[in-house]
Amino acid sequence: MSLTINPRVQQIEPSGIRKISNQLINYPDAINLTIGQPDFPTPEPIKKAAHKAIDDNKTTYSHNAGLLELRQAVSAFFTDKYSFTYNPQTEIIITTGASQAMDTVFRTILEPGDEVIVPAPIYTGYEPLITLAGATPIYLDTTTTNFIPDPTQLEKLITPKTKAVVFNYPSNPTGVTIPRETMDELAATLANHDIFIISDEIYSENSYQGEHRSFAQYPDLKDKLFLIHGLSKSHSMTGWRIGFLLAAEKWMQQAVKVHAYNTICAGVPSQHAAICALTECQDTPAAMNPDYILRRDYIYTRLSNMGLPTVKPGGAFYIFPSIKEFHLTSEQFAHTLLDEARIAVVPGTAFTPFGEGHIRISYAYAFDQLEIAMDRLETWITNWRNKERYIVPNPPLL
Ligand SMILES: Cc1ncc(COP(=O)(O)O)c(C=O)c1O
Repeated sequence: MSLTINPRVQQIEPSGIRKISNQLINYPDAINLTIGQPDFPTPEPIKKAAHKAIDDNKTTYSHNAGLLELRQAVSAFFTDKYSFTYNPQTEIIITTGASQAMDTVFRTILEPGDEVIVPAPIYTGYEPLITLAGATPIYLDTTTTNFIPDPTQLEKLITPKTKAVVFNYPSNPTGVTIPRETMDELAATLANHDIFIISDEIYSENSYQGEHRSFAQYPDLKDKLFLIHGLSKSHSMTGWRIGFLLAAEKWMQQAVKVHAYNTICAGVPSQHAAICALTECQDTPAAMNPDYILRRDYIYTRLSNMGLPTVKPGGAFYIFPSIKEFHLTSEQFAHTLLDEARIAVVPGTAFTPFGEGHIRISYAYAFDQLEIAMDRLETWITNWRNKERYIVPNPPLL
């Protein structure tokens, strides 16, 4: 048998986020803090809009780029809130979630041999797509700068092979946002180079320390920026699969071909629901945020009181405490915590090797669950410190 598959597919791994949650079936009493999706239901008007679309037989294909009415709503959202404008006719594509927007961008711009700079630790979704395109991720270590990408380090990583740099702020898995001055410096650095900027700002509406700042607010960058967005997080619509890709027309003429051959168009009842989300439910994220802030403050305070070094998140619904004290790899730590304290968290190494020594906790869970989880964690840590248990003979260098 000489059948083979693409070796690059063999090279990529399933997402590390699921490694622990897949085991939860064996631990029915565990508190699951692994999943990154809002615990609020999709708002009623959005569901009704989808019902109506189905009842009205709006169930056929749409334009490849998506319903024009939805693209207009997307354009208006960014203009009204962030004061930058993309032309709904030529510069916006509605995708099957932000994930398909990413895939479309990478397949549109990358060639084998290209390098893509990726601040790390970072969301699991980018590296496999970069690898599949035959390009190489080059990591920008943010572990010594409170998970904020340093413009000087970025400059040093840029080579003639650099095709693009990826940003995801507010960040999954760390929850950090980039301060305004650093954004300005990054933008100034990037303005001097012929490289694409791919900015996944899906958590922009879950920013807790002032207004989100977008790379699209820098006019110098517009010509090389791909902005990725969507409704999965802001409107609790993960299962509806609606994302947005925005970029200059010259790139979108190419990207729309990749998108069309991949999926023809995003699901049409979901697109009708999305119009409602953007036009009638603009306040939904603002209504959820006070709850997230309460939970963020609670978890941050509890972790800090337990003595776990933790960067205070400014957005998204994740927190990324250090567990270096325990001399376990983050995978060993997560497995031990599930087994002994019945708390499921994601090992930091799911988010590149730069996540080692950390765990990701999602706080998109009911407050009482978070309280139980923090109590269990505190008891486990106290026991561990008292008994000095679980020290592996040759601890890995963290
Ligand atoms: C940073 C980031 N981008 C994109 C996605 C995927 O978004 P979607 O469900 O819209 O494909 C996620 C999901 O967790 C994410 O955290």
